[in-house]
Order: sequence, then structure tokens, then C-alpha cells
Amino acid sequence: STDMGEDLKEILITEEQISSRLDELAAEIDRDYEGREILVIGVLKGAVMVMADLTRKLHTPLTMDWMAVSSYGSGTRSSGVVRILKDLETDLEGRHVLIIEDIVDSGLTLSWLKTNLESRGPASVEIATLLRKPDAASVDIDVEYVGFDIPNEFVVGYGLDYDQKYRNLPFIGTLAPHVYGG
Ligand code: PRP
Ligand code: MN
Ligand code: MG
Repeated sequence: STDMGEDLKEILITEEQISSRLDELAAEIDRDYEGREILVIGVLKGAVMVMADLTRKLHTPLTMDWMAVSSYGSGTRSSGVVRILKDLETDLEGRHVLIIEDIVDSGLTLSWLKTNLESRGPASVEIATLLRKPDAASVDIDVEYVGFDIPNEFVVGYGLDYDQKYRNLPFIGTLAPHVYGG
């Protein structure tokens, strides 16, 4: 199909809901980091939209960097063993790091990433994610800022893809079963 509308089942979170929730998170982050400078790290590619929108709502001085990581192994579930495809260009020594993610699903990617970044001598490492799924609860990882807790459904849009598509949808939606062969 060439029409993305036909591939969607429903809109789970609207563009307006995302924006007003990010307003709240930005206010919280500004309060927590008062008097400090943040190094905001976006995890490519899913975090592109939330990184762009959340940072534009912050008033705290910040710099940005990006990482690209990939889970080893085949299958649809992430293995927890992560490979760095693009590393940071910034020295983390003494920095206040805020990792930005689009979604914490199994939590394995972030769990590995947080440990990896903590080993580089930062003053602090916190995590902000737009979405969190129920499975994330079974991994021992502290996520300081969560936009929305969502049910265990396959979601796309606002950075999240299925087969690299749908990232540009301005909302979070669920896919119709015909798209993934259901
Ligand atoms: C997705 C998502 C998170 C990660 C969450 O990224 O953007 O980064 O999976 O999964 P986990 O909590 O189960 O580890 P993906 O690997 O699909 O890459 P992408 O961001 O380029 O889409
Ligand atoms: Mn990702
Ligand atoms: Mg993906």
C-alpha cells in the first residue's frame, strides 16, 4: 500500500498529547538540573523526534550528541548484547548525561547503554523516554522521566518504525494486522 492511513489500526497517542506531556517532562527536567549543564544523548534512529521536540522545550543549557547501537543476534527480540554502530564525539568525564529514547521495550538496550556510559566517568546518567512497555519492569533499570506507559502492542510513528517505515507519523499509532502478516 502507498497510503499509510490504510496500514494503521488506531491512533494511541495524538500529536497534541505528545506535545503537552513533553511540556511537563521539560519543566521537570529544568527543575531537576537547575544550575547545571546537560549533555543530551539521543539514541538513533528512533529518538530523533522526541530529541528534537523535548530539547526545544528545555531552558537548561545543554549540548547534544548521538549514538547508534544495534542488538546482536537474530530474531525480533533484542538479545541484550549491544554493538556500537556510531559512538559519541563527546568526552563524558564530569558531565551530566541525559539519555533520550523513544521507547523502552524489553529494557535491554538501555540497561546495556547506561552501564556503558557510566563507565566513562560522567557526573550523572539519567534516562528520559517517551514510551515504556510493561516488559521493561522486569529489567532492573531506573528510568527517571517517562512520557507514557503503554500496553504491549506494536506501535509506530513519532520516530518508531516497522521495517524502517512510519517514523515520520506525527502521532503514536498501532498497525493493522495485514501489515505484519497477521
Ligand atoms: C528500538 C527503540 C529502542 C529499542 C528498545 O530501537 O527505538 O531504541 O528498540 O528496545 P529494548 O528496550 O527491547 O531494548 P531499534 O533497535 O529498533 O532501532 P531504531 O531506533 O533505529 O528503530
Ligand atoms: Mn532505537
Ligand atoms: Mg526500530
